[in-house]
Amino acid sequence: MIFNPADRILRLAGPHLQATHGKGLRELERELERQPAGPDFLDITYADTHRFPPVDWAIEEFSKAASGAGMTYTPYRGDAGVRSAVAGNVSGLLGLEFDPDREVILTPGTQAGLYSALAAMINPGDKVVVPDPDYITSDRSVRYFGAEVLPVPLVWEAGQAPRLDLDVLRAQLAKQPKLVMFSHPNNPTGAVFTPEHVNEIAQAILESDAFVIVDQLYCRLVYDKAPFAHLAAVPGMRERTLTTLGPSKTESLSGYRIGVAVGPADLITRMEDVMGIASLRAPAYAQHVLARWIKDDEDYVQQRIGEYQALRDQSMTALLDIPGVDVRRSGGSAYLFPSFSGLQASDQDVALALKREAGLVVNPGYQFGAGGTKHFRICFAQDEQVWAAALVRMRAVLESFPTAV
Ligand SMILES: Cc1ncc(COP(=O)(O)O)c(C=O)c1O
Repeated sequence: MIFNPADRILRLAGPHLQATHGKGLRELERELERQPAGPDFLDITYADTHRFPPVDWAIEEFSKAASGAGMTYTPYRGDAGVRSAVAGNVSGLLGLEFDPDREVILTPGTQAGLYSALAAMINPGDKVVVPDPDYITSDRSVRYFGAEVLPVPLVWEAGQAPRLDLDVLRAQLAKQPKLVMFSHPNNPTGAVFTPEHVNEIAQAILESDAFVIVDQLYCRLVYDKAPFAHLAAVPGMRERTLTTLGPSKTESLSGYRIGVAVGPADLITRMEDVMGIASLRAPAYAQHVLARWIKDDEDYVQQRIGEYQALRDQSMTALLDIPGVDVRRSGGSAYLFPSFSGLQASDQDVALALKREAGLVVNPGYQFGAGGTKHFRICFAQDEQVWAAALVRMRAVLESFPTAV
């Protein structure tokens, strides 16, 4: 068999990183995968779901559906009863009413919501505004579809609230992008924008013709009792915003592969068309877990926020004590994105050394855009004792690099 990869797959290999990193994205990632791990192996690119398991009724609901109570062949956009429950729960969360039949789709993970939305609207040559840094797949999916990424720096000075550079955002919007796409809370940094700033972003977008995908996977995982503003709820935004949500992280349900997208009916229909040729539907039995999601897990989420916040603070103290390392206090998500501009090392050097010497798998900063240079991302949702030991090993590795002169 002769296999000729499609051009879009070749773009997915991230050849553009060659210029700055001497290797393409895939090559860098493979190098990291091939690196044998040191003792006490711990993958801190995601949460420990044994320490932080799903809410207990998730398995009950799944089992009931799988034992005959749930349809196997649901409509592509999801079981009608579940969509109705989800519409009610998500409407309460966002403060906006969504029609379960027209404006809600259940997807195989939040990821498939992002993919099907992009597949439904992006043509080669289109322009898409993406914060830098942003979620690992934002930049690469836009490139995959042959569109041009217009980056906007995420600015987060010490002691200040994080924000998108509004001047750059306006300049990029003046180039008539089809779409603005961003995660909020931001992955990898955990940045949560103030409601005032969400409004400023919305006003800039409203002056353009751009549509928006806001990925709010972590919007229930917000710390310090900070308010969280939903972009779609800003007057005028609802008609041009797709909001993606899901129980994968806050509720540890990533293994169930379910997500939700709410937005304009026309787009939801096109996304369903994409699902019709890609996955058909979200896993049918797992869909049923969503009927109780948000409605019945408020206490569970509050407890989780408390436990995660303690882990975040413990991590901050440990990281800020390392010479050459700096980090902002994540306002949401379970990630921290330490920088090491004070060390003589590249993203790849640090990620390789952490794996080799400390058994720790982290996400190197280049995975999140050019603004991720000299950073690495860690997920602090780990068993407390295991995490305390991991932070000690992390420190030893970082201290082994010479400080920049
Ligand atoms: C911002 C963001 N969006 C989407 C996803 C994908 O989530 P899911 O497991 O629901 O597909 C992730 C996973 O890490 C994420 O961080």
